Amino acid sequence: MLTEVTATRYLTPLRSGGSVPGVFETDDLGTYVVKFTGSAQGRKALVAEVIVGELARALGLRFPELVLVDFDPAIAGSEPHQEVRELHAASAGTNLGMDYLPGARDFTPEVAEVFPVDPVEAGRIVWLDALTVNVDRTVHSSNLMLWPTLGVAPPRLWLIDHGAALVFHHRWDASDPAKAYDFRHHALGGYGPDVRAADAELAPKVTEELLRTITAEVPDAWLAGETDFATPDAAREAYVTYLYARVRASAQWLPTDFPGAAELAAENARRAARTRQGRPAWLKNVPDLHGRPAAEQDWSVHLG
Ligand SMILES: Nc1ncnc2c1ncn2[C@@H]1O[C@H](COP(=O)(O)OP(=O)(O)OP(=O)(O)O)[C@@H](O)[C@H]1O
Ligand SMILES: [Mg+2]
Repeated sequence: MLTEVTATRYLTPLRSGGSVPGVFETDDLGTYVVKFTGSAQGRKALVAEVIVGELARALGLRFPELVLVDFDPAIAGSEPHQEVRELHAASAGTNLGMDYLPGARDFTPEVAEVFPVDPVEAGRIVWLDALTVNVDRTVHSSNLMLWPTLGVAPPRLWLIDHGAALVFHHRWDASDPAKAYDFRHHALGGYGPDVRAADAELAPKVTEELLRTITAEVPDAWLAGETDFATPDAAREAYVTYLYARVRASAQWLPTDFPGAAELAAENARRAARTRQGRPAWLKNVPDLHGRPAAEQDWSVHLG
């Protein structure tokens, strides 16, 4: 089971995250990024965080420790914004904590320009994303961080935020475990990811036994009440069955032919031109946002 801790002090909201996670201190003297059960993304996002994050760890990828955080909204009374207060109020009880990496930097396109990533490591990450159908590891929303950054050791890539993986669990009846993965805008596509080496190395490690161990970590409360399944264990078994079928069908979803930087830039330019064409004359000079981040990624401003 994941370790259970209790939140003791509210530090800050992470407004760059769509679900507005919070940074909390806890009674084990830790600091965690807490994702809430009451967020718009819902409990399924937390289920995906646990299953994909623990799978990443089991496969040897760097991923911060996860804990279950008992949260009493009263401790976050200093939060001034009504919508965040409502999120907290809707999340009393067990939420998900991810070890906070102090000083970590988001892996943005600017960072990517100067930080080399080994094709073997890139291949492992792309392979995990393809297996778990993660739609949120793109160039401008990489959900990758560099840590440490203070010179004590060389910075390394860390995975975060798998809330948008396992997309099949939103439509169990329509999900095909052999479905191809759309990797064209993957954050690591430009590093020549060696997905074949990753498949040979990692696929044999994804056993039914490993998947059962991992799904057992998900709290019952996050799996209960699903119309598709009578019990939390039935839901767990569906994740095991799907992921095990998918890993054995890797030949059908293994991404290949990653587009180069020039090809992606040309694609963005084509889309921008199409958008401009459809605009009235007075709107034609508005800045082109194609291929640009949708939201500010640098949240360090919140820590003052
Ligand atoms: N463990 C961590 N340590 C340090 N910073 C973190 C950690 N987890 C998240 N962050 C910071 O908070 C930001 C938002 O986190 P995250 O992407 O997990 O939130 P989210 O609400 O799921 O976001 P979204 O769905 O919008 O991508 C990250 O981009 C990163 O800057
Ligand atoms: Mg994110």
